[in-house]
Amino acid sequence: MNIIIARNKAEFDKAAAAVISRQIKKKPDSVLGLATGSTPMGMYSELARMYEKGELDFSKVITFNLDEYIGLHRSHPQSYCYFMHENLFDKINIKEENVNLLDGGASDSQGECEEYEKKIKAVGGIDLQVLGMGHNGHLGFNEPKTPFESITGLVDLTPGTIKANSRFFESVAEVPRRAMSMGMKTILHAKSILFIVSGSEKAEVVAKALKGPVTPEIPASVLQLHPFITVVLDEEAAKYL
Ligand code: GLP
Repeated sequence: MNIIIARNKAEFDKAAAAVISRQIKKKPDSVLGLATGSTPMGMYSELARMYEKGELDFSKVITFNLDEYIGLHRSHPQSYCYFMHENLFDKINIKEENVNLLDGGASDSQGECEEYEKKIKAVGGIDLQVLGMGHNGHLGFNEPKTPFESITGLVDLTPGTIKANSRFFESVAEVPRRAMSMGMKTILHAKSILFIVSGSEKAEVVAKALKGPVTPEIPASVLQLHPFITVVLDEEAAKYL
């Protein structure tokens, strides 16, 4: 496990973007697994900046996003589809047909998840999976106690996650209660992983995830089992390591 501890936000964003940039330069048709949340936003800006400067080409890159709220149409400002277009896809030369996102408005959500899992396999799997982490150690929307064997499917969000994510909505009541998420096994199958966490409020769970027992109680602890993982933390998130 390669752990990078950034001294400030700019360093954090650049270190994370550098891992993605190296992957795309090594394999221009890389399959990237992407994450949402406030943590990767600066990294996405940095990638867009690299594209603008002609340093990166996304024309052959394929992406799969980790998760999506059930019930939010793709055009909803809090949907992860909207987030990804706003923060990255609309700023780079990725082809729309190479962008894969679970559809929160799908009439058959379970079928949507099964199709997604098949699509990932059909392109040969994910080369590099970007992961943030929830306050309770969740990956994607895989809440504590999710079996490590899970594949892409439907999940119920915990009250803590609903509350944490309510900061992006008008009220807690507006936060969807269910989501679709790549499974733990789907995530672990990625050939390499970029795990990014910042902020002191996640310091304790970072220590549990990276140094504690590997247990479904802390979903991110499963990352200790992955042979090719780069971790980018800021000093606050790394303080109990
Ligand atoms: C959501 C997403 C996760 C993300 C987490 C942390 O719950 N489903 O994929 O890692 O939020 O978000 P943030 O980076 O805003 O703390």
